[in-house]
Amino acid sequence: MHKKEISKAVINRLPRYYRYLGDLLEKDEVRISSKELSDKMKVTASQIRQDLNNFGGFGQQGYGYNVEYLHAEIGKILGLENKYNIIIIGAGNLGQALANYGDFERRGFVVRALFDISPELIGTMVRSAEVKPMEELEAFINDNKIDIAAITVPKASAPIIATDLVKWGIKGIWNFAPVDLNLPKEITVENVHLAESLMKLSYRLSRKKKETE
Ligand code: NAI
Repeated sequence: MHKKEISKAVINRLPRYYRYLGDLLEKDEVRISSKELSDKMKVTASQIRQDLNNFGGFGQQGYGYNVEYLHAEIGKILGLENKYNIIIIGAGNLGQALANYGDFERRGFVVRALFDISPELIGTMVRSAEVKPMEELEAFINDNKIDIAAITVPKASAPIIATDLVKWGIKGIWNFAPVDLNLPKEITVENVHLAESLMKLSYRLSRKKKETE
């Protein structure tokens, strides 16, 4: 167990390290120096060393990093050796898009079912998961070991649904509804807001435009 508190910035960079190392593994690369990794990732070599030192280093002076080992170790830090059962609440455009994306499953995130209130959607299949009525949600959580619930309903319904999910034992919420959920601190919430990402892009574009004016 890592006793030291790891900063959010480091945690935010780990999935990117994991992805790059995964690409290197696919190309059968055995080892990489922090300099090469830094050139590829456009992160300074010292930043990489500093980040990985949080977890005990993994590198060897003059050798660099063993790609397979580092990939596996970062995967462990990210908890990716576990399998996660996911349900999706709201089987509209976004809920279906998430359920249709097969790559999550390859990484151990398995969509077990979707839930919705729309009679037209209930009973339909999205990839290998069924859209079920909300009335079955509590029993489904009880009967299946569900780790994560994705919330892809309109924002007005999201807080009530989140509270019910927590009451029924869900510990991880992947929230896409554009609203802040006030949940107990033992519940882990990851918010994904593409609109905020677009606003950041807009800010950077407009700043560059001003620079050239
Ligand atoms: P949509 O209208 O296609 O789907 C919403 C679904 O939720 C519908 O199937 C509807 O029947 C269902 N629903 C409504 N109330 C419900 C309730 N009380 N319980 C269960 N199901 C219920 O909408 P879309 O485009 O899929 O967006 C869904 C949510 O995701 C919205 O809150 C939207 O703002 C958000 N969104 C977030 C994005 C992000 O980057 N975080 C990107 C796109 C959408």
